[in-house]
Amino acid sequence: MKKYVAEPFKIKMVEPIKMTTMEERINYLEEANYNVFALKSDDIYIDLLTDSGTGAMSDSQWAGIMIGDESYAGARGYAHLVENAQDIFGYRYVQPVHQGRAAEKVLFPLLIKQGQHAISNMFFDTTRAHVELSGGKPINFVCEQAADTENYYDFKGNLDIEKTEAYINKVGVENIAVIVMTITNNSAGGQPVSMQNIKDASALCKKYNLKLVIDAARFAENAYFIKTREEDYKEKSIKDITKETFSYADALTMSAKKDAIVNMGGLVCIKDDEDLYQGVKELTIAYEGFVTYGGLAGRDLEALAIGLKEGINYDFLKYRIGQIEYLGDKLREAGIPFQYPAGGHAIFLDAKALLPHISFHQFPGQALTIELYKEAGIRACDIGSYMLGVDAETGEQLESLNEFCRLAIPRRVYTQAHLDVVVEALVEIKSRAAEVNGYEITWQPKVLRHFTSKLKPIL
Ligand code: F0G
Repeated sequence: MKKYVAEPFKIKMVEPIKMTTMEERINYLEEANYNVFALKSDDIYIDLLTDSGTGAMSDSQWAGIMIGDESYAGARGYAHLVENAQDIFGYRYVQPVHQGRAAEKVLFPLLIKQGQHAISNMFFDTTRAHVELSGGKPINFVCEQAADTENYYDFKGNLDIEKTEAYINKVGVENIAVIVMTITNNSAGGQPVSMQNIKDASALCKKYNLKLVIDAARFAENAYFIKTREEDYKEKSIKDITKETFSYADALTMSAKKDAIVNMGGLVCIKDDEDLYQGVKELTIAYEGFVTYGGLAGRDLEALAIGLKEGINYDFLKYRIGQIEYLGDKLREAGIPFQYPAGGHAIFLDAKALLPHISFHQFPGQALTIELYKEAGIRACDIGSYMLGVDAETGEQLESLNEFCRLAIPRRVYTQAHLDVVVEALVEIKSRAAEVNGYEITWQPKVLRHFTSKLKPIL
């Protein structure tokens, strides 16, 4: 079993968290209509809802906040950010935006024509939505190993190159807009993509004269996996691996709320296409604000410039990935099933395997999520049939390939003891798994229902 990698930082500021009783939590759940998005964060002990915007900034980042330049145009922080992003990604053009989906909003309409297909190893929800809003049709070709949650594979996030090429030939290259590589592959379980796979995707794009875009939300975690799992990269630095990764693509969109460890921020970077950059600048001014602040406060630009550098620090990544591996190893030892191996930012618990008596109609991922909160005040989220929703035409419940309950770990926030609490809670739930009930929806909105639906237990 992996030893916990001790934190490469010490704690200078703390945020108290509330302890609650099971009786209180049962009441809070009822008041929230069994939707964890409706819980008050004050009533949560360990919040694993997301790793996005929930990291702890460093003293250097907070110092950056204090000296942030709030000028409307030409702020100092913009210059710092451009310099650091150019240095890390090796791209000429850098455009800040307020978060990842804003990056998608200002780039995709310039790449996708009405009716064209956009291919990915796996689109994240908002990325998929922005392909559709741009008139495109998103399609995923993740490698087949991703569907097998039980067995180890180094790079379950990879794009299936053969299927992608066959699809390009089937629909005709003129009907393909772009290929998007999501690193790491969030929806497949925070699983990494190999350098070889990125190279192969790049070669495919060159062959068919297509643009390759990287969804770079967790690029540093992906680089760490390449260093530790791909033979040729053992001796290379995270920075060199990152540079090489992006050298194979034409542009990136990034939610900086993950690997750049800021509470708000995003980026669009473009390798060298000046016309594309001009288009991005115009859309940014229309949607986000002037180009030198892109929807952010001046202080945010400074924190982001610093966070980008901290996010690629090897010792930090060793601790960060080590933390999730530690949690994964403990769960495996206890016989609790999850997408194996552990992802870079999260453990995706396999609720279908843990709660086999709950059918997809009764949402095993959501049932496990509710149980975790009830047991120990831990907030996770369903990534399964509950999140997927119903068929737009027939209104029938769709069945998700996997019924996951995601434990996303914020950066530099929780300790080994917190992770042990998570393991203990899951061991307890496993021991009474047969008694765990499913759920039915009593009210739901038309789109993105998991945020606001109301549910009730099926007793
Ligand atoms: N791309 C990926 C791979 C993501 O995981 C996310 C967000 C986005 C784009 C959108 O970025 O939130 O800054 O607009 N993922 C978060 C999550 C919300 O919980 O996984 P955003």
